Amino acid sequence: MRIVETENLTRIFGSGEAQVTALDGVSLHVDTGEFVAVMGPSGCGKSTLLHMIGGLDRPTDGVVKIEGNDLNSMDDDDLTDLRREHIGFIFQFFNLIPTLSALDNTALPLVLGGTKPADAQTKAEEWLKKLEVADRSTHRPDELSGGQRQRVAIARSLVTDPTLILADEPTGNLDSKATQEFATLLRDIVDRWERSILLVTHDPRISSFADRIIHMEDGQITEETDNNLKEG
Ligand SMILES: Nc1ncnc2c1ncn2[C@@H]1O[C@H](COP(=O)(O)OP(=O)(O)O)[C@@H](O)[C@H]1O
Ligand SMILES: [Mg+2]
Repeated sequence: MRIVETENLTRIFGSGEAQVTALDGVSLHVDTGEFVAVMGPSGCGKSTLLHMIGGLDRPTDGVVKIEGNDLNSMDDDDLTDLRREHIGFIFQFFNLIPTLSALDNTALPLVLGGTKPADAQTKAEEWLKKLEVADRSTHRPDELSGGQRQRVAIARSLVTDPTLILADEPTGNLDSKATQEFATLLRDIVDRWERSILLVTHDPRISSFADRIIHMEDGQITEETDNNLKEG
């Protein structure tokens, strides 16, 4: 199934002299069970692309469909619902809330969506278990290792049971071992739980775990690499 489909996606910021074409006619798709990486130099439009696909910002032109739903036809409330029901986010540096326990951080997207706290915590506990950090539920982020923090961030992105995970340069300055572990976890999520991942990264150690790599420059797709073809 087509989880993400964009057609001729364009985003222009500002006007006149200050006008910036951040995205310039991007057409791509991500299917069920696919892990797709987006790579390209700073400023080439990667974050803008993820914002459009996540319904956080609207395109100047072109189409985004999430599981067949055209985002252009939705109002802001619809977009909020779509994000809550279909999309999980993994943020830069994982972005856990320092004052909340691992459990409450994980439960947060459900609580914000109106789920009863007790039910949200039960779900959160399940995902922490699946990601093998349930023994750290009561710990705050500063009491967790880098590797445990990334597991909590992944659990949080999955707690609403989304079909699509969007991640924007999540690893920051993780060491080699943690980076490898993060990439392996993402691969697992796609393979074991049939999710789709669209991830922006500059790190070839992560993109090597993706099924496909989309290369961007100046707001456009310049090249696509199929990692599975390479292996076969
Ligand atoms: N809100 C905004 N207003 C004006 N320009 C923006 C805005 N967001 C991004 N840009 C510009 O759009 C281009 C693409 O930015 P971005 O998508 O953040 O690139 P990347 O994530 O690949 O580094 C850059 O030139 C950036 O300065
Ligand atoms: Mg960016």
